[in-house]
Order: sequence, then C-alpha cells, then structure tokens
Amino acid sequence: MSADLFNKFDPVFKARAEQPVDRADPFKVCMDEVLSETEAMIDGRHTILAGTNNYMGMTFREEAIEAAHKAIDAFGTGTTGSRVLNGTYAGHRILEDALRDFYGTEHAMVFSTGYQANLGIISTLAGKDDFVIIDADSHASIYDGCALGNATVMRFRHNDVADLDKRLGRIPPEAGKLVVIEGIYSMLGDKAPVSKIIAICKKHDAAIIVDEAHSMGFCGESGRGVAQAEGVEGDVDFIIGTFSKSVGTVGGFCVSNHPKFEVLRLVCRPYMFTASLPPSVVASAAKSIELLKYAGNRRAHLWENARRLHSGLKEAGFVLGTETAESPIIAVCLPDMPTTTRFWAELLHAGVYANMAVPPATPQGLNLLRCSVCAAHKPEQIDQIIERFIRVAEILALNLSETRRGGATAEIAAHPQAPGAAAATG
Ligand SMILES: Cc1ncc(COP(=O)(O)O)c(C=O)c1O
Repeated sequence: MSADLFNKFDPVFKARAEQPVDRADPFKVCMDEVLSETEAMIDGRHTILAGTNNYMGMTFREEAIEAAHKAIDAFGTGTTGSRVLNGTYAGHRILEDALRDFYGTEHAMVFSTGYQANLGIISTLAGKDDFVIIDADSHASIYDGCALGNATVMRFRHNDVADLDKRLGRIPPEAGKLVVIEGIYSMLGDKAPVSKIIAICKKHDAAIIVDEAHSMGFCGESGRGVAQAEGVEGDVDFIIGTFSKSVGTVGGFCVSNHPKFEVLRLVCRPYMFTASLPPSVVASAAKSIELLKYAGNRRAHLWENARRLHSGLKEAGFVLGTETAESPIIAVCLPDMPTTTRFWAELLHAGVYANMAVPPATPQGLNLLRCSVCAAHKPEQIDQIIERFIRVAEILALNLSETRRGGATAEIAAHPQAPGAAAATG
C-alpha cells in the first residue's frame, strides 16, 4: 500500500495539538461584522482591529465603494478569463493608467495578487543563466518566485549591504543579476537601506526589484514607498506592490520604465494563465490609488498613530521589533510560542485583534504579536490597545525582561518564508 500523502504534515498536526487554545484558536478567528476600518464584531465582542494591514484606512472610502458599485452594475461580477484571451476590460486599462500616474512610470502591469506579481516577475525575468539575489527575510512570494524560475538563487543577510556586495562579487560579471528587496519588511516593520543597496547594485551592474507592499501609501512624499522617501526611485528597475494593504482591496502590480517591459505580458505565466481581477475590484483600486496620491493628512495621522503605539508599548516595557517606529507595523516580541498563543487569545478576549506570528514564519525564530496601525485609528483607540496589552501582561504575570528581539545571526539561519514555512502571514 502506498504511503498516505498527508503523512508529511504530521508535524503540523502535532504542533497544532500542542497549542494552548483554551480561549480561542488563532486560525479560526472570524469577523462576523466589520463595523469600520478599525472595529469588528468577533465572537460577539466589539474588537479593535490592530492587525489588518489596512494602513491608509481605504476599505470604507465612499468614493472607492461607489466606483465598485458602478463597475459591478456596468460590467458584471467577473471577467471569467485571463487578460491574454478575454479578460481585459476598460477598468484594467484605467487602473494601469492610475498606477502609471501614481508612480510616474512608463509601464504598469496588474496581476491578480501581489503574490502572483512576485511569482511572475521574478521567475520570468531571471532565467537559466541568471542569478537572483534576495534578502534572507523575504516574503514567501519572493521565495516562491525564485522557486518557480530557473535562475541560481542566492540569499544575503537581512539588510546587510556588505554581505550583498560580497555575494554579488562572487557572481561572474557577465551573468544577468537581479536583486530583490522589500521597502519595509512585513514581520518586524523594519526599513531596508534602499539607497545603499542600490549603490551596490550599480557597482555590480545588477537590476533591482523593490517590493513596496508594506510601504506604499505612507512612505515618501506622495506615498510611493521607501524608494521615493530616499529619493532613489529613478534607480529602481521594478517596483512591485499589492492592492491588499494600503489600497484596501486585492490585486498586485509591477511598474517600471524598462523599454522592453511590455513583452512581459506575453511571457509571464502567472499573468497569462489566470483570470484577471473583477471589474469592481479594479474600479475601487483605481479610485483608491488616485486618492492616495493626495492623502498627505492621512499619511501624517498614520505616522502619529504608529509613533504613539510604539512609544506607549515601549514605555510599558515591551520589547519591540524596532527601536523606533520605522513603519505602521509594530511587532511585540514574546518569549516563547505558548506564551504568545496565550497572550494573543487573552488580548482578543480583551477586545484587541493583533496577528500572532511564530516560527517558522518569522525572522530569527521570533514569537511575535504583530500590530499594524491604521490612519483611521483614533488616538483613544491606540491608547486602549496599549492599556489592553499591559493588562494581559499582568494577567499572564509576564516578565517582560525575559523577551528578546534577537541579534545579528552569524549565518543566514532564518529564511522565514521559504517553502516549508507552514503559516506565513503578513
Ligand atoms: C512583501 C510582500 N509582498 C507581497 C505580498 C503578497 O501580497 P498579496 O496579498 O497581494 O498577495 C505580501 C503579502 O503580505 C507581502 O508582505
């Protein structure tokens, strides 16, 4: 008799069985009602949402909802096909125009998710004789883009410019090289040294992709991301992003000024062989992107909220993923997985929803309660989140000094979202 194909997942069943889920199961949370960008009813309780990635609070923008309604009335519920065969609707063109306008680039290509944008762009650009060099803390979609392609894959230590330089130096000079980084890293909310990395790429004649999934909307003067904030956008070959965070809906994209960019529509399989986004989604995404360009006040408010949460938790003694608020992602480090699960469940019971992020989906094996703040949070809500964190720490009699942020790893041991990581989030 052949082996049960599910045997390989026994460690996952075992780990789940060992979780102290006396109060709630992190994998079974259901928002029965979403009251606003910042509040939902979960299990009959009024809950503050502190883990949505809805950074700019666009999910309930009237203009975006109205655009979605109009599109669904005019074009129906779906395209029922890929862009290449039968799936380009007027709305896709309008959305790509909105992206070109937002980023000031010649080209924009919309994918059905950000995951697919990384899958498609990385696997298509880097071919058999090429090299892809990625940050060790890259998102699963970047790892999977490498796995789908045929290039040689190398990793450099997280945000370590010298290590990148060393590794690029080992590649034959004539080989094609593609470096992939993120503007803000999704688990700890730390920022990449984008301009320094670009200088190294230039030294070695390597092309660069910056995935601005967690920086679009609020980094840089008009919200284009970290590359804009550092004044180096002109040197980035490809920006990848998602509509599932600051844009408030679903979908992904790549923008570029490369003169041959459009050929990707004919050769990029994760673009060609999947249905295009539905009319309502593209309409609301286009409207949100238009609004994000001029959302200076929201950006300022989001940063105020991020700093308020960071300083409040830090003053209370929590160990955080970054020394200062480098982004709206504020990650609270906890000592071990059982404590993290219990803390998460108590916090939910107290009316705060944050993300539980644990190994292998986290860098350096950290156990995290990952918060992401929203421009629509009121200062009082941020204060309530802080108070409830403190209350739960007291309930659990937690010794906060036992936690660690983790230090520089000697080797690249952590590859958090490489294939095999069972529950990657963010
Ligand atoms: C850095 C990064 N890139 C890409 C993605 C994928 O985005 P999407 O949700 O649109 O598939 C994510 C999602 O969390 C991400 O964190």
